[in-house]
Amino acid sequence: MTKSPTNDACPAVEAPELAPAAIARPDLMTVEDAKALSVAMMTDLFKTHINPGQLHFMKLLGFHKVKVERAEGMYYYDQDGRKILDFFGGFGSLALGHNHPRIIAARNKFQDEKRHEIAIAFMSQYAAALAHNLAACSPGDLDMVFFGSSGSEAMEAALKLAERATGPARPKTVYAENSFHGKTKGTLAVTDGKLYRAEFCLNDNTVRVPFGDIGAVESAFHSDPQIGAIVLETIQGGGGIIQAPAEYWQKLRKLCDQYGVIWVADEVQSGFGRACRFYAFENYGVVPDITTLAKSLGGGKSAMAAMIARRDVYMKAYGTPKTAMIHAQATFGGIGEACITAVEAINVLYDENLIENSAETGAYLLDRLRALQAKYPKIIKEVRGRGLMIGIEFQDFSQTLPAVLRPVVGMLDDKLKGSLSGFVGALLLRDYDVLVAFTEYNRNVIRLEPPLICTRDHVDTFIHALDSLLARGIISIVKDFVKSQVG
Ligand SMILES: Cc1ncc(COP(=O)(O)O)c(C=O)c1O
Repeated sequence: MTKSPTNDACPAVEAPELAPAAIARPDLMTVEDAKALSVAMMTDLFKTHINPGQLHFMKLLGFHKVKVERAEGMYYYDQDGRKILDFFGGFGSLALGHNHPRIIAARNKFQDEKRHEIAIAFMSQYAAALAHNLAACSPGDLDMVFFGSSGSEAMEAALKLAERATGPARPKTVYAENSFHGKTKGTLAVTDGKLYRAEFCLNDNTVRVPFGDIGAVESAFHSDPQIGAIVLETIQGGGGIIQAPAEYWQKLRKLCDQYGVIWVADEVQSGFGRACRFYAFENYGVVPDITTLAKSLGGGKSAMAAMIARRDVYMKAYGTPKTAMIHAQATFGGIGEACITAVEAINVLYDENLIENSAETGAYLLDRLRALQAKYPKIIKEVRGRGLMIGIEFQDFSQTLPAVLRPVVGMLDDKLKGSLSGFVGALLLRDYDVLVAFTEYNRNVIRLEPPLICTRDHVDTFIHALDSLLARGIISIVKDFVKSQVG
């Protein structure tokens, strides 16, 4: 028995300490138990331990019935041997497809050689090589690299760097309407989703402007000298695949130079070759001050993210021994296997000409979708995008749907009301074995972000599925969806 240390606020009490005992093994599952879980057991554990509310959406979309046993290239394979074509691509995380053989081989070799992972004490040759590769892929003097494990972490690093580089007199950051930069507290302050912001107490040193409106940017910079940074996705993903024209970016670069504002380009979703160039901003012949990558940088196998900054900006913030540790890597930043995975992923991207393929196959997909839009003008409102980052916006049918069906649809889910995308996505999966993605802020938009290994044959399969589904007509689509929910 020991006594608690004495102080005035906390008088000493006799506190029994537990005697050492044999540690009982809790009721643990093994890796093999995990692989063998049934759909029902997975559902139960998801409900009990992960996110019961999320299951509601998975049920609406039919995701809850699928147990993926294997994934390779463009496909998932489920418990019944069903082959599901992946046009969702993990919101842009699977540029190389699932389990690319070169990625698997590099990772296996790294493990067989018993290489070290944690790079806190010693320098890491793997992080050094990855930083070199990223600087080599990045235009201008985007040379300094910070590693993290998620897009949000890279964006946090970018926001902190911008704030330190411009100094305490200019703490304000401009962000765009319908932006998405992550769900951590710092990134939420520049993420425009009411749902995600909820009622958190966020940094309010922010100014919101419409995306693509250069006049709004100029008047913000002009009227508020406290603005030190502007953060923008180059192509808005969560907003529904929204682009701004080249002149916007070129004027933005000039305005940032004129007012000394740091431009942070979020390329977490649009980068890594998805939009016809390594970074989407390269389509416009401009270079930001700071950019971020995540998602596909991890080769579809690891959690890897990077912030890449112009050297002078970086040096202003963290360039001295005194300031160097202010925002140095976290425990898992630059971890070995994730770094070599990203090194190999970048090599595969260039060796297999996947950036060119995003442009060529993306153009083919857009053409074929535009033909479908011409065929079904009452269903498809717009098709847009660049490379293999494409949105299909459906007409809002909430008012045109026969009155008898409206309450049924309304009852199903508040979010799907008036939106065909949920119905189309759910039926594409159920009836055609095709997976597509949805869009945070515009429920009428389906997002297509297939792996960059996608071929014209995959596009033809997808178009055939969508064409057959849309040929049923809106009323049948809604009825089939409703039946799928009750059946
Ligand atoms: C543009 C953009 N920025 C940041 C993020 C946040 O990335 P993560 O989910 O890895 O934290 C995302 C995620 O979808 C994104 O699309």
